[in-house]
Amino acid sequence: MDVIIRENYGQMSRYAAEIIAGYIRTKPNCVLGLATGRTPVGTYKELIRMHREEGLDFSEVRTFNLDEYLGLGMNLDKPYDLDQSYARFMHEELFKHINIKKENIHIPDGLAKEPKKYCAYYEEEIRKAGGIDLQLLGIGGDGHWGFNEPGSSLGSRTRVVALNEQTLNDNYNAFFKKAGFKRSEMPCFAITMGIGTILEARNIMMLASGGGKADIVAKCLEGPITAQVTSTAIHLHGGDVTVVLDEAAASKLIRYEHYKQVERLKSQYGL
Ligand code: GLP
Repeated sequence: MDVIIRENYGQMSRYAAEIIAGYIRTKPNCVLGLATGRTPVGTYKELIRMHREEGLDFSEVRTFNLDEYLGLGMNLDKPYDLDQSYARFMHEELFKHINIKKENIHIPDGLAKEPKKYCAYYEEEIRKAGGIDLQLLGIGGDGHWGFNEPGSSLGSRTRVVALNEQTLNDNYNAFFKKAGFKRSEMPCFAITMGIGTILEARNIMMLASGGGKADIVAKCLEGPITAQVTSTAIHLHGGDVTVVLDEAAASKLIRYEHYKQVERLKSQYGL
């Protein structure tokens, strides 16, 4: 596992975008797993810049998003800026700015008539695409990946989950409140890829930014593996695992100096 620490959010985002761009340049039809939340927004902005200024080509790239609120989806009948679906988020923050093909975008359908059946279908779509080459991840305040709340099995698959109080509060304050929603109007279920699904991605990259994430990042990277902090499954992954943090998010890591030293040595030896 590589733990990369950058001075601030901008540098963290540029580092992450460069890794993603590397996948796209090496394998133009690569399959990317994408995440929502405030954390990856800077990375998406940088990818958009690379597309515009450097010709980064998304025309063959395929994407699978981690999750979606149940009951929400890209619903153009609703006033656009009130739609808090992750589908709209992805459209606004990335997809509408790049040359990705609509048919290559996959986001769990929060409006699916039969959600359980739909979850099995989503897994099948990932399989048919040949699996995910690189899964981008944030980390929730309670340590979740996607919407795999504490207590989710580390072998879990794509399924419908109930959101816990902390996640509802976090996401209300970050998104729904600004759009004028009442707390009671928030969807309290979601469809999420499972931890088992995420671990099947060939490589993963987790981002975290800000002092508010420092404690949970330390638990995730340096605490015991536990289903109470589902992102600790990071230690079970066998591929390339990269964690990109800004200084504030890294500030509670016991082995902070070690990670810095490893990065210095790797660059010195060209590894
Ligand atoms: C939501 C998403 C997660 C994301 C998390 C953190 O719960 N389902 O995928 O990692 O929020 O969001 P933020 O980056 O805004 O802190």
